[in-house]
Amino acid sequence: MSAPSDSAFAHVVRAHEDPILGVTVAYNNDPNPVKLNLGVGAYRTEEGKPLVLNVVRRAEEILVSNKARVKEYLPITGLAEFNKLSAKLIFGADSPAIQEGRVTTVQCLSGTGSLRVGGEFLARHYHEHTIYIPLPTWGNHPKVFTLAGLSVKTYRYYDPETRGLNFQGMLDDLSAAPTGAIVLLHACAHNPTGVDPTLEQWEKIRQLIRSKGLLPFFDSAYQGFASGSLDADAKSVRLFVADGGELLMAQSYAKNMGLYGERVGALSIVCRNTEVAGRVESQLKLVIRPMYSSPPIHGASIVATILKDRQMFEEWTIELKAMADRIISMRKQLFDAIQAKGTPGDWSHIIKQIGMFTYTGLNAEQVSFMTREYHIYMTADGRISMAGLSSQKVPHLADAIHAAVTKLA
Ligand code: LMR
Repeated sequence: MSAPSDSAFAHVVRAHEDPILGVTVAYNNDPNPVKLNLGVGAYRTEEGKPLVLNVVRRAEEILVSNKARVKEYLPITGLAEFNKLSAKLIFGADSPAIQEGRVTTVQCLSGTGSLRVGGEFLARHYHEHTIYIPLPTWGNHPKVFTLAGLSVKTYRYYDPETRGLNFQGMLDDLSAAPTGAIVLLHACAHNPTGVDPTLEQWEKIRQLIRSKGLLPFFDSAYQGFASGSLDADAKSVRLFVADGGELLMAQSYAKNMGLYGERVGALSIVCRNTEVAGRVESQLKLVIRPMYSSPPIHGASIVATILKDRQMFEEWTIELKAMADRIISMRKQLFDAIQAKGTPGDWSHIIKQIGMFTYTGLNAEQVSFMTREYHIYMTADGRISMAGLSSQKVPHLADAIHAAVTKLA
């Protein structure tokens, strides 16, 4: 038996918890019954419970009762039917890019896996290795792209003064980017700020990106979750596809189908022509095979079952809209509660921002006060997941915000 100090790993230092998922670890360790987790972006019901959509349960029943189904390996690129349906969902059923056969889609491990595979493909096969990400952005973005072999720079996005978009700053920074640079864009419901460009602003962004020969890489984690409409939330992406140019697209079904732990997503690359798309796909396989060989079958089968059946698709859109509407109603209720308390400051951004998150503007000290005194858990940047809130918990949150703002100005 060797002494513990003999470990080959004795020098390994303890890493910090993840800034988002670590909030859940801290929440789980808190024995106080009033605790509230507004950290991770995961939908909860009014009762504070995770939700499995009825349509998902139904799809699973269909899959389980089909005795012809087997557990063979999927191809490296995943379930072909899922890939086709995913491209149609984001680009539109009548997308010319799909009809012209210049889109290649591969099933990946949710949004993160799609971003990582896309990033590694670009690092291997694209001449420009700099990717511009918005400031701020989802905390995992810089890590994913750095480890994929790209060099990460930021463009201005959020204006803390207006708690809205710094549109001019964004345009200036993208104008100054080197020709060919990759630009990460949140398709809708920007995480963490909840601030999206208007359609007119998207059009100006598109013109700038195309005129400078920049390469757009869309991250779509919230299609249908922002407005309640799958088509409305895909408009930004479809503007870019309609001009015939190239782009990358990472899709996740974690939020909009509630398939978080199933890790279902897709990476699409829209190419100039079908010939290029075929070669690109052959190289994506070389990225995926040594990484995880091929993707899992169950989650993608659930998605395909729902997307290909008109009635199930319809049922999904209704359940999706109900989730989006509940989040919108939480915004209104929180805003009203804060107004009623007379909390100092302008809180209208709570109702102006869109999607799963409100970027409150609370600072790290105020956040840690709210966690300590009120057992409310959220990320240190002041982001709260509106999807984790319920009517019953609104007064508690409003009390905590009021105390944080008045005691720690
Ligand atoms: C979030 O931002 O909370 C979600 O996208 C979940 C995650 O993986 O970070």
